[in-house]
Amino acid sequence: MSRARIAVFASGGGTNLQALIDAEQAGALPDGTIALVIADKPGIGAIERAERAGIPAVVIPRKEEGFEEKVLAALRENDIDMGILAGFLGILSADFLRRFDAPVLNIHPSLIPSFCGKGFYGLKVHKAALDYGVKVTGATVHYVNEIPDGGKIILQKAVEVEPDDSPATLQRRVMEQAEWVILPQAAQMVAAELNRKKGGPAQENA
Ligand code: GAR
Repeated sequence: MSRARIAVFASGGGTNLQALIDAEQAGALPDGTIALVIADKPGIGAIERAERAGIPAVVIPRKEEGFEEKVLAALRENDIDMGILAGFLGILSADFLRRFDAPVLNIHPSLIPSFCGKGFYGLKVHKAALDYGVKVTGATVHYVNEIPDGGKIILQKAVEVEPDDSPATLQRRVMEQAEWVILPQAAQMVAAELNRKKGGPAQENA
């Protein structure tokens, strides 16, 4: 069986990348393989995690001229079938998405449509949730389109807010209970769908 070749985009520690690597190693991502990690800055934890797992990693600084061209070239060179933004802080343009013409997923640390969109990333999301006083938050995996956090939702998981939470304790609970669970699940769902399409009608009817 062919496996969808996945590129994971990261800007930070890479715990969501690690959840994907662990899922693949545990056999929970049978339709996909993590074939490339794209980091938008050097020295981040995600690169170290990729290297430890034997996955090629490229650094393409986001502020550099021609960033999207370079990313597209890396995706093509590595025969990538789908992308996953796992703690990636950049916004991909409509032109990029049209030219890549493959599914791109994003993990966001809230229940969209709450606490999302431009400016909502990392701890800021959890601070906004605590300031608002919500008692339940969570994480969302969605398709990426030209609207920040605006694409169709694939999976969501709710997480309780505790009375004494800080943004950091809430972030950790959302990661453990939601992000690291639903991101590999969503990756497998989309990879399986890609393989079904690639297999064509004969396999679909089998
Ligand atoms: C994660 O909580 C992810 O959901 C969030 O950044 C963190 C990255 O952690 N992403 C966003 O806020 C995107 N808007 P990681 O590098 O350890 O996976």
